[in-house]
Amino acid sequence: MYSKNYPNMFKPLKLKNLTMKNRVMSAPNMIFHVVDNRPDDYYIGYLEHKARGGAAIVTLGEMAVGDGANHVPEMIKNDDNLPIYAEMAQVIHEHGAIASVELTHGGNKVKTQYNTVQPMSASESISYFKPGTHLSNANLAMSGEATGDLIEVKIKSMTKEDMEHVCQQFADTAAYMLHAGFDAILLHYGHTWLPDQFFSPIMNTRTDEFGGPFENRMKFPLMIAKAVRDRVGPNVPVMIRLSGSEYKPDGFDVNDMITFLEKAQEYIDLVEVSGMDAYRGSTYYDHCIHADLSEAIKKSGRVHIPVFTVGNVVHPEEIEEIIASGKADGVSVARALLADPFMPEKVLAGRRNEVTPCLHCWSCIDSDNDNRHLVCSVNPLIGREARLGFGDDIGKAQVSRKVLVVGGGPAGMEAAITASRRGHEVTLAEKSDALGGLLKFTDADAYKADLRCYKNFLVQRTKDLNIRVLLNTEVTPEFIADGGYEDVVIATGSVPVTPNIPGIEKAKHATEIYYDPEGVKGDKVVIIGGGLVGVEAGLHLQKIGKNVVVLEAMDQALRDAGNLYKMNLMYTMRQTGVMPVTGALVKEIVDGAVIYEKDGEEFREEADSVYYAVGMKSVDDLYFNLDDVPVRTAIVGDAKKVGKVAGAIHTGYFAATDIGKL
Ligand SMILES: Cc1cc2nc3c(=O)[nH]c(=O)nc-3n(C[C@H](O)[C@H](O)[C@H](O)COP(=O)(O)O)c2cc1C
Repeated sequence: MYSKNYPNMFKPLKLKNLTMKNRVMSAPNMIFHVVDNRPDDYYIGYLEHKARGGAAIVTLGEMAVGDGANHVPEMIKNDDNLPIYAEMAQVIHEHGAIASVELTHGGNKVKTQYNTVQPMSASESISYFKPGTHLSNANLAMSGEATGDLIEVKIKSMTKEDMEHVCQQFADTAAYMLHAGFDAILLHYGHTWLPDQFFSPIMNTRTDEFGGPFENRMKFPLMIAKAVRDRVGPNVPVMIRLSGSEYKPDGFDVNDMITFLEKAQEYIDLVEVSGMDAYRGSTYYDHCIHADLSEAIKKSGRVHIPVFTVGNVVHPEEIEEIIASGKADGVSVARALLADPFMPEKVLAGRRNEVTPCLHCWSCIDSDNDNRHLVCSVNPLIGREARLGFGDDIGKAQVSRKVLVVGGGPAGMEAAITASRRGHEVTLAEKSDALGGLLKFTDADAYKADLRCYKNFLVQRTKDLNIRVLLNTEVTPEFIADGGYEDVVIATGSVPVTPNIPGIEKAKHATEIYYDPEGVKGDKVVIIGGGLVGVEAGLHLQKIGKNVVVLEAMDQALRDAGNLYKMNLMYTMRQTGVMPVTGALVKEIVDGAVIYEKDGEEFREEADSVYYAVGMKSVDDLYFNLDDVPVRTAIVGDAKKVGKVAGAIHTGYFAATDIGKL
């Protein structure tokens, strides 16, 4: 496919008897739209959306291979469910993509509630699960929560018969899904699932022919690949997703994986290289985190099948560069295609500037694991296409209206962009001298490049869509009445809550750290409030060389963070030493110190500067002062309810789509 600026990204690739139309694979993303063990229409719409967006391969994630393998609710493979999978495959095909399914076995991470047999793995062990969540002990340990009410599960060591049974489960599932119309099989060997539990010298402590040297530890993973190949025949593409490294001093590394692939390529046609923990990769990590591993595999000269990379690849330029420089033959993308499934089509159409960038905030997986409901911060439609339609077909409103959006933060910009795309005449009024709202802090934050990129994207879209922007404009009821507006969206945001602490006048709100860096006096900084704002401001300050102490009154910091984001953040906090003191009730701010009480004892923390971040409150007066103005109003973002980017974008989007609907 011709693309002047992205020639490598759009180069077709043969996979057995199929052709990838470009080098972008939509990575497996399990979503919890599985009701009574069958995927529902939402799941089908979601996969169709990915195919429509232009990915060459669309993958159905986490199809566990049967009883004993389920770490998520099983998608049962029986006659009744066949039409569902057939429809999935068909909708993917209809948009020119290859339909692939990922087969998994959770090994020692399966959940007892989803299986009837005892969990098993390479070696005996005990696993712990937190009831009611998708989290296992490893995740919990990382987030510092591996305590309390956990379910303890005994894991048995697999016999040779067990291994043969699992091989059969893989082969049967592959055959079933091909029968349903899927074209390709992706075997999940990464992310600590069963094959990794054999590869790993830490998890595999066997002393028989499947333990010990790597050649032994890779035997069972090879048996699975062979069993699947034998069952599906020579013409069906079989791919493997693996961890290129265990990232532990005593774990397996990329050289082991090269040794494995050298043998496995007899059975497989493509390898997708991830890392042992797929879920590293928030905004606190670099982009393209596993491209060094795929590069090592390619450069080894021992692996002759296409090698793809996955992990924190966000921008089309990164995809192009990875392939052009020979680090991989293609890229598998998960979150960036949740943020914008149309990334490939937009790039191809020369509309790169319309690609919504991913924030790396993990809202997708955190919301899905907690509420069984996928929520992307920046894409209100993802996972909900069955009800809401496709993101690009936003359509025009029934009636074009004269719209005023008050407030140029993320909610206001999103409302203005969406209203403009719907054909309304839009004015966006902002009282400060620049768009961005609370996201302006990202211009200065040491870690927030992804959020900055998104803020800049919104600002640029506002310009591109010819929205009339009025800066330095304080909107009053008279202003609205005089302007002849028909619809007004109030996006006036929020302001900090000031804690009621003696001496608080000596402190400033944490965002001032970014807006007035010169105001951060001395080396030692105390931040009062260990939620996301306080902790992230602390990390930023620490990165620029300050000595930071964060004090949190509750018994847990980061209560407003999702599980996975928190895990990533805690990792960075441990590395940098910025660990909040919890249960620390601040009594007073005095000259040069903060006095706090913890466990009934009083402490004094020396401080050259003191900041606080103890919450925000909505600014909503304008909304309640419009009773006498003949306009239709909506309130969005923090003005409606203080929250994160997802709240701002979703409320802004839907308020705008409701304008002129009748
Ligand atoms: C919502 C969500 C669901 C995921 N589900 C799966 C899955 O079913 N199987 C899998 O192997 N990986 C799954 N992953 C991991 C991704 O495929 C991918 O490896 C990871 O997100 C890193 O890639 P990215 O930086 O492009 O997001 C999921 C990720 C997300 C965000």
